[in-house]
Amino acid sequence: MLEIPAQIWQKTKTSYIWRSLFRHGYPDSRKNQSLAVFTNVFLHLHPVKVRRHALAIPYTWCMGGLSFFLFLILTLTGTLLMFYYHPSVDGVYNAYGDIKDLETVVVFGQLLRNMHRWAAHGMVITVFLHMIRVFYTGSYKPPREFNWVIGTLLFFFTILLSYTGYLLPWDQLAFWAVTVGYEIARATPVIGDEFAFVAFGGFQLGPNALLRFYVLHVVGLPLLTGFLIAIHFWRIRKDGGITGPL
Ligand code: HEM
Repeated sequence: MLEIPAQIWQKTKTSYIWRSLFRHGYPDSRKNQSLAVFTNVFLHLHPVKVRRHALAIPYTWCMGGLSFFLFLILTLTGTLLMFYYHPSVDGVYNAYGDIKDLETVVVFGQLLRNMHRWAAHGMVITVFLHMIRVFYTGSYKPPREFNWVIGTLLFFFTILLSYTGYLLPWDQLAFWAVTVGYEIARATPVIGDEFAFVAFGGFQLGPNALLRFYVLHVVGLPLLTGFLIAIHFWRIRKDGGITGPL
């Protein structure tokens, strides 16, 4: 049988492992640069090529990108906040007490809470400005009308995320602000009481409403929003990238 010299065997083995991970050469040519993006699970989410105008801040105001950035910050800080927060109205560990502890005794708690709050306010503003930019540049026109519809849903879910999060500190501000929402829901024609009952979990604002808002805030709405953002980005690519200045 043919003996493979140790040196060559070693080299073949290394290049085998290398090639099992990276199926392209060093990204120093256009082809290898494209392959580096195509064959990487994270990089392939971004288009291989973008037009120069797509990166022009005066055109996009970068508001879509900033909205996504804030969504990621919110997911990260929100997950960390979940380690401390109990969606409960009484007992030793309760929502109001947990937020007070975060503000006063938890190390970096105040920073964490404020990052989450400010990013939430910021996201409402950036998503709104992004919508204004898309309208202003006429980018809602065919073939992008479907993405405009996805966008309006994203705007709606951003507001809902903000609203459900507002109740979670369970302080006076939260309680009475959401009571206003409850009364508005009750004023829905014909099905007002039933709608308010389902949305808030009872005939008045109490523990059920807190739990319901918590589950929507940390699971339902972020998942839906993340899913819609993925469709939004995929659609931008299928529509030939973003529009450009005429
Ligand atoms: C979570 C919310 C949202 C995120 C993260 C997001 C993200 C983005 C990003 C990154 C772009 C690429 C261009 C740019 O940055 O301007 C974009 C484009 C676009 N977005 Fe959004 N978006 C959101 C909400 C919305 C809303 C509320 C609307 C409209 C109702 C909308 C409609 C569009 C349309 C039509 C485009 C294509 C624009 C063009 O071709 O010039 N998006 N979005």
